[in-house]
Amino acid sequence: MAKEKTLFFCKECGAESAKWLGQCPSCKAWDSLVEAPRDRKRPVNTAIGIRRNVPVPLGTVSAEDEKRTGSGMKELDRVLGGGIVAGSLVLASGDPGIGKSTLLLQMCRNLSNAGIRVLYVSGEESLRQVKLRANRIGEFSDNMLFLAENNMDVVRESIMDIHPAVVIVDSIQTMVLPQLDSPAGSVTQIKEITSFLLRTAKEEEISIFVVGHVTKEGSVAGPRMLEHMVDTVLYFEGDTTTPYRILRAVKNRFGSTNEIGVFSMERNGLMEVLNPSEHMLAGMPLDEPGSIVTVTMEGTRPILVEVQALVCRTNFNLPRRTATGTDFNRLNLILAVLEKRLGIGLSGCDVYVNIAGGMRVTEPALDLGIAISVLSGYTNVPLPSGTAAFGEIGLIGEIRSVSQAVARVKEAAKLGYHRCFVPKNDADRMKGQIPDGVQIIGVSNVKELKKYLSGNG
Ligand code: TYD
Ligand code: MG
Repeated sequence: MAKEKTLFFCKECGAESAKWLGQCPSCKAWDSLVEAPRDRKRPVNTAIGIRRNVPVPLGTVSAEDEKRTGSGMKELDRVLGGGIVAGSLVLASGDPGIGKSTLLLQMCRNLSNAGIRVLYVSGEESLRQVKLRANRIGEFSDNMLFLAENNMDVVRESIMDIHPAVVIVDSIQTMVLPQLDSPAGSVTQIKEITSFLLRTAKEEEISIFVVGHVTKEGSVAGPRMLEHMVDTVLYFEGDTTTPYRILRAVKNRFGSTNEIGVFSMERNGLMEVLNPSEHMLAGMPLDEPGSIVTVTMEGTRPILVEVQALVCRTNFNLPRRTATGTDFNRLNLILAVLEKRLGIGLSGCDVYVNIAGGMRVTEPALDLGIAISVLSGYTNVPLPSGTAAFGEIGLIGEIRSVSQAVARVKEAAKLGYHRCFVPKNDADRMKGQIPDGVQIIGVSNVKELKKYLSGNG
């Protein structure tokens, strides 16, 4: 008879090992391996049930659109792909204090007022704390039930008892399945709780939203698998010093991942910003050098943002460069192209570029806006008011076409920007589609920009 071997397993992630190790090879936790009981065959897996399905021809599967419910917030519905899908599991993540709980609470309020039964489980805050937040948002109907609990068994019983259509779990890091001997927030707990929630969502047709924190590096805390398991991953982002918050879907099994929702955090909750361009440009200085408006596409939505550049003589051997709200490497590349192709001494200058309004823009169409704001900052020549620009810059200094140029020009014109620098190719293609009174300046190379910034353009 084969000798029965001692088996070890990691308390943190459940990984097995034939011998004891100081560090778990899987999750890298120290001193987490313990001897497994003799009868242990697999890590405790309470959540995943075994179901037998039979193979069926694809032709017999009905492909009706998913059942969706409006969340009462257009901006949120847009990001979800047109409303909340029945039986979906959504992960809402973002920095602490950004407004995840507020957003979900507001969604619950709208749903419950529309007669939909909602359960809000908070493992982080007491009922009193939730109530204090709720008071800022408004009145709640009796369809909205709160549960301050972090034991998933109790949550499971409540879900089975009251059959809500929507459940919020705030946050996954605070929940525990008591059968597992690892602490809340550990990889094993998160994995098992997520598979339990996933199964509940699919079998009971409940839409479940889980809140997940992000780590210092900006990714969802916990296993990467969490993001793979859920249907939709929403990121709520923004600079906490400005009221603007942007909701993005980084994964969506039921819709596009390009759409964004814009909100503003006010004294009584999050307000939807239906016309983000207006808000992004609020307080923009007029007739100052180093500032221009550019048009960026967020999904199908053109948004106007102001690009600012401060260019001054450096006091160091190595000039300082910072990029706030955009890609640092891209900025360096544009500065190198301008220096080389126009022969201007940017290497003797500190350059600070900022996307005003707290938005982060990384699409290449921003290049021309950055180049013009830097040139305007460098020459100290302001652009005539009402000027916008977009276009991608190549390494040779050429200005390349961008997508949806007409939509961008139209959005600019709507807000009174009647003079647009655009890639030459796009300008040629746009003929006949430009709104009245808009002057299109097609540029094919950065060299052509010089004449417009010499004070008489
Ligand atoms: P919260 O939703 O608790 O953030 P998260 O769940 O992402 O950690 O929001 C916290 C911040 O929002 C807090 O700093 C207070 C602010 N806030 C408002 O400004 N107005 C409001 O109406 C509410 C409810 C919160
Ligand atoms: Mg919260």
